[in-house]
Amino acid sequence: MKALILSGGTGSRLRPLTYTNAKQLIPVANKPILYYAIEAIKEAGIEEIGVIVGETKDEVISALGDGSEWGVSFTYIPQEAPLGLAHAVKIAEDFIGQDDFLMFLGDNLVRQGVKSFVEQFQREKPNSLILLSRVDEPQRFGVAELDGGRVIRLVEKPKNPPSDLALVGVYLFDNHIFQAVHSIQPSWRNELEITDAIQYLVDQNFRVDAHIIDGWWKDTGKPEDVLEANRMMLEQIDSRVDGYVCEHSQIIGRVVVEKGAKVIKSTLRGPLIIGSGSVVEDTYIGPFTAISENVEIKNSEIENSIVLKEVKISDIQCRIDFSLIGKGVKIQKQNNKPKAYNFVIGDNGQIDL
Ligand code: TTP
Repeated sequence: MKALILSGGTGSRLRPLTYTNAKQLIPVANKPILYYAIEAIKEAGIEEIGVIVGETKDEVISALGDGSEWGVSFTYIPQEAPLGLAHAVKIAEDFIGQDDFLMFLGDNLVRQGVKSFVEQFQREKPNSLILLSRVDEPQRFGVAELDGGRVIRLVEKPKNPPSDLALVGVYLFDNHIFQAVHSIQPSWRNELEITDAIQYLVDQNFRVDAHIIDGWWKDTGKPEDVLEANRMMLEQIDSRVDGYVCEHSQIIGRVVVEKGAKVIKSTLRGPLIIGSGSVVEDTYIGPFTAISENVEIKNSEIENSIVLKEVKISDIQCRIDFSLIGKGVKIQKQNNKPKAYNFVIGDNGQIDL
């Protein structure tokens, strides 16, 4: 069995971060979202992985390499434009050959992994097995209607949902999916939709089964999803202080201070992580905060946030909360007169004062 990770796309809902970065490489608990998918695939026993790449191809390739770091091998498959999830399957046909495969959307996180999902497919041998999760607002998702364990219909964002079972971004297919992706037409948004391809399998009487997970998962499409994912992943960290914490600092709860990080006269209330080379001084860092590498935070307060590398924050009197701060951003207090806010922010940035 092979795997196909989708790491192309536009990431328009995560702008401005995605103007300069692949959304799949945004770190959650200081680890790129995509790495969690790779680990889950490896844990399920799959080692040959195709990676669909788009505009951010160079960045994805340099972050992933040849796969030896995880004991897997990557084959990069460029997609000329984000023409849909089923289009990504279509262009992977030569790589997949006659094998069955697991398809994993590179911006999705499934906390319990996919091992039992893959085992069910191998045991029961349906033509496709889709991963579902019960949700509160099925209107916002692709939803499946089941008859026993069989899928009989898929509907995208239904006004009257036939069930509360939403499609998680992980799927298993045998070779018949290629017949489906060659037969369907682009949707109103000009994409080849994977839901249409799966519906094609159902309509042609191929066996499409469902696997329902009860653990946490997240499609990290929007900033609030990334922050929620960060909270979930920080819930699971174990304390580890490899950096320097001065005797005047206080640590409460589970905290990771990486090697080369310095914490001076500060309060750290976990769960949180501070990346290597970062300096935190006269500062409060609160729960569910992930500080990347080479960040400097002085005389400020921050919690529930993700701070990417090389950010500098100083003398901010109001606590920074629920924030996603991009690489190299500077937030500082000016003492000069006239007193004013000075902004240099990219397109689609957001400031709530
Ligand atoms: P989406 O989140 O559906 O699309 P997107 O990345 O373009 O984001 P936005 O809607 O905010 O513009 O994509 C899910 C995953 O699949 C994501 O990791 C990107 C990837 N993808 C591809 O690789 N090729 C494609 O053609 C599409 C549509 C998505």
